[in-house]
Amino acid sequence: MKFFVDTAEVDAIRELQATGLLDGVTTNPSLIAKSGRDFKEVIAEICEIVDGAVSAEVAATDLEGMIREGEHLAKIADNVVIKIPLTPDGLKACRHFSNNGIKTNVTLCFSANQALLAAKVGATYISPFVGRLDDINLTGMDLIADIRGIYDNYDFETQILVASIRNINQVSEAALVGADVATIPPAIIHKMYHHPLTDKGLAAFVKDWASTGQSIL
Ligand code: E4P
Repeated sequence: MKFFVDTAEVDAIRELQATGLLDGVTTNPSLIAKSGRDFKEVIAEICEIVDGAVSAEVAATDLEGMIREGEHLAKIADNVVIKIPLTPDGLKACRHFSNNGIKTNVTLCFSANQALLAAKVGATYISPFVGRLDDINLTGMDLIADIRGIYDNYDFETQILVASIRNINQVSEAALVGADVATIPPAIIHKMYHHPLTDKGLAAFVKDWASTGQSIL
């Protein structure tokens, strides 16, 4: 499973890039607003740090506006992926971009039927939001399993990008149900390293090694 980071904070992206774990980045208008920075500048900077897919979301909601904005954003760098909302016009824009060799990430997906539509118009990625489904007492990960089954039934190439991840368990669950990508907030990626038994075990090894008085080099 590929790891994308879900942030518009360039310093956090640079730090994660150095771990060798990062396959891409997702942003959205809320994350851009939180960064307080110019959208196109941030996307250009992220694309210089990361070789993989960098999602940049259109702001327009009408077909013509989405196409114009998407074509403009796609010129920033080769690894820009145009993020489009899952609406009738969004899916028409997705078809336009896929016909023209521009990669797309169809966002705000909350049902298997929506994911089926996105695959049929050639979306590169579909972004089902698991956390927001869990927030309303549904089971977000069930949707990922349903989409996996549907895509596999028909050999759709659209990649399932699990979004709206709120905890570390959702990352391993996404991998278990066969998601292609998880986009994860930086704080959750950092939490994935940790286990109390790792810390306890390492402290004991360090102490016991010191008691030997030896040195490897
Ligand atoms: C990413 O592409 C999504 O926009 C993001 O994961 C949404 O996360 P949220 O539900 O925590 O805002």
